[in-house]
Amino acid sequence: MSPPAKAEACVACHGPNGNSTDPQYPILAGQSWRYIYIQLKDFNEGRRKDPLMSAMAAGLTRDDMIELGNWFAAQKQAPNGFKADAAKVAAGSKKTDEVLCPMCHLGGFSGQNEIPRVAGQHYAYIVKQLNDFKARIRTNDAGSMTSVAGTLSSQDIDNLAHYIANLN
Ligand code: HEC
Ligand code: HEC
Repeated sequence: MSPPAKAEACVACHGPNGNSTDPQYPILAGQSWRYIYIQLKDFNEGRRKDPLMSAMAAGLTRDDMIELGNWFAAQKQAPNGFKADAAKVAAGSKKTDEVLCPMCHLGGFSGQNEIPRVAGQHYAYIVKQLNDFKARIRTNDAGSMTSVAGTLSSQDIDNLAHYIANLN
């Protein structure tokens, strides 16, 4: 399968085949197609906002979003190169069990349908999203993440991000 023409514009930030190397840009390779589709639709319709990404989604049609979702979902996720701290990984693992993250994200944060894969995602991106949910800057989650993130301290967020970024 060759990439859809509109995927060329994504490379600048999300990297070749959706494997970004700059940790502020999420890895899209191997993400669930349905989650990608929903996020593109949310950026396009203004339910999720970002100064860089909102403009990128503005010109996409529904068919583009489905095609882009399927393309990135079919790509192989590359290792993120993150050097995790072992004590934080252990504390993060313990916290995921307490807060029941796997109830939705599944064991190992592999994701399913509209619930994202977060395993092996960039540390900096995970921290930003958990803080954005906590501060209710990101609210396109129908309440699932804003309520969970509200209970997390910044130390919890740091530990969880070490644990999840380290899952490959
Ligand atoms: C100029 C940089 C830039 C370009 C080009 C760009 N994006 Fe993004 N994208 C971002 C940023 C930054 C975010 C994270 C926003 C945030 O922090 O919430 C993002 C987030 C996303 C997300 C959400 C991922 C997740 O895990 O929630 C998807 C899906 C996405 N982009 C798809 C695309 C597609 C498809 C294209 C090409 C049509 C594209 N992006 C082009 C910067 C960019
Ligand atoms: C009740 C179900 C549920 C639980 C429990 C849950 N999540 Fe989520 N999570 C979601 C959904 C749904 C989304 C996607 C929201 C959207 O569409 O914007 C999400 C999104 C995320 C994202 C953003 C991913 C991205 O690519 O932008 C991160 C990070 C995350 N969750 C981490 C966690 C962690 C860590 C826990 C446990 C502390 C957790 N989640 C518990 C349902 C859940």
